[in-house]
Amino acid sequence: MAEKIVLAYSGGLDTSVAAHWLRDQRGYEVYCLTIDLGNLGDLEGIRERGEQAGAAQVDIVDAKQDFLRYFVFPALQAGVVYEGRYPLATALGRPLIAKLLVDKAREVGATAVAHGCTGKGNDQVRLDIGVQTLAPDLTIVGTTREHSVSRDEALAYAAQHGISVRQSQESPYSTDENLWGRSVEAGVLEDPWVEPPADVFLWTKPLDETPARPAEVEIRFQEGIPVALDGVEMGPVDLVQRLSDLGGEHGIGRIDMVENRLVGIKSREIYEAPAAVILLEAHSALESLTLTKPQTRFKHLVAQEYADLVYNGLWFSSHHRDLSQYVVSTQRHVTGDVRVRLWHGNATVIGRRADRSLYSQALATYNKEGDLFDQSHAQGFIRLHGLQAQVQAQTQMLTEAGDLLKLAAPEG
Ligand code: ARG
Repeated sequence: MAEKIVLAYSGGLDTSVAAHWLRDQRGYEVYCLTIDLGNLGDLEGIRERGEQAGAAQVDIVDAKQDFLRYFVFPALQAGVVYEGRYPLATALGRPLIAKLLVDKAREVGATAVAHGCTGKGNDQVRLDIGVQTLAPDLTIVGTTREHSVSRDEALAYAAQHGISVRQSQESPYSTDENLWGRSVEAGVLEDPWVEPPADVFLWTKPLDETPARPAEVEIRFQEGIPVALDGVEMGPVDLVQRLSDLGGEHGIGRIDMVENRLVGIKSREIYEAPAAVILLEAHSALESLTLTKPQTRFKHLVAQEYADLVYNGLWFSSHHRDLSQYVVSTQRHVTGDVRVRLWHGNATVIGRRADRSLYSQALATYNKEGDLFDQSHAQGFIRLHGLQAQVQAQTQMLTEAGDLLKLAAPEG
């Protein structure tokens, strides 16, 4: 009896060819698993192509809710962005896909799982490690890594084996989409000097087509998780989709960057992540009211560490668990509302309030009336705060440099 394999199946040309190849060349009984993390197109077409490719079963799983709840919102609470810009949509989806591949493998009694990730990218790392950590007994087959075919070869293979391919749906780029964002690379984008052509963008309008008038949205957070828009409570999927549409309409969330992959390659990637950009901005505005300065500083360090481990495929690790416990603890009072103006590509916070805000107008005010801050305390505080710098300047720096004007440019 043939051994069973579960293939992470997108329904596109490459994984359809892979499904057929796993059966014909490697002798597996192939179970195609398509995981819907949002923005999955034509489900019937996917099922049909999987069957044409010879799959024993094509299963399509809606994992949108779990994706937001267990992957995206924890990342939002942590404030993770990779290398300062990328909200990690693709990276956050991979551990969930790995988990569902393993579940399916257990369900059907498969001995192996497969994916079509390139051998040059991060996604293979995330899927492999996900499967490796959850189910070390499963064999992992990287179909593209092991048997790379050109686009023309794949098309010829599909034609020869009766797998229908909708040419129009195959873009000239390599793309990945889920509710948190869209990633686009390859094609002309490989030259980092080349401006992204208009056809790269599907979710966000170019600035010259965005509405002349701004939109405003009020986002309610409960312990760091968005729960309502404009006073209307919403489930996670609707809320994120709504912000994605609204932000896209106003040209928000386009990111063009060269990033450092785990495997040592620099790559140019375009992202569209309107909901992520809006929510990260709003969430951080609410934290500015509810976290103290040291909490804010330390949480930034944690966020970088957290972003790296998500990017580098180490989701299922105790290090992650430990960091996330810290993050969740910081969110106890991140409850309140943020007003964001969406206009011409920008999501601008124009108002914020928290149920337990640390902001005190009575301390901050420049008006005499109601002022609770005693300015006479300032002088003594500053004396002590500056004491070490004062002593050092007089005893060491004046003798070293002579002229403190050039302190920051010693050789000049
Ligand atoms: N560079 C991003 C990451 O490593 C996205 C990878 C997938 N991109 C794509 N266009 N297929 O998370």
